Amino acid sequence: MSEQLEIKGQTRAERYTSLVPQLKALVGPEPDVVANMANICAALRQAMGFFWVGFYIVKGDQLVLGPFQGPIACTRISKDRGVCGFAWSRAETVIVPDVDNFPGHIACSSESRSEIVVPLIDAKGEVWAVLDVDSDKPGEFTETDGKYLREIAGLLKSS
Ligand code: SME
Repeated sequence: MSEQLEIKGQTRAERYTSLVPQLKALVGPEPDVVANMANICAALRQAMGFFWVGFYIVKGDQLVLGPFQGPIACTRISKDRGVCGFAWSRAETVIVPDVDNFPGHIACSSESRSEIVVPLIDAKGEVWAVLDVDSDKPGEFTETDGKYLREIAGLLKSS
């Protein structure tokens, strides 16, 4: 299972466990949401070795690309389109073990094989952004990733 996978001698859960307090210290004092999103992307990609990490921000009836790390990505996604639009409309975490088996998956990169999308929900219960993490390996993500990525996403406040 991928949560047993060791990166530099640490399991995936251990790696998240050491990353979360560092992100809290980095993001907590900074009120600018874009700056915080940018550092979260860089930290997640560096610490976890993910292929692509990024935010899409709700603007009207679309998701618009925000800070990210990785190959260039599609700029706008409509509600209910792709994994990101599905997570937005459902307001819940979506894990896709094989993107080829997800109808409507938007292939920003042909190398992307699996994906997790975590919605960011404001005080009114509305989704205001999503955190999208892609892997170039199938079956990369489990509920362990969901748990820690929701905790990390929860550090951000909508502006
Ligand atoms: N695959 C996503 C689109 C975003 S890229 O992967 C960066 C989707 O289907 O919503």
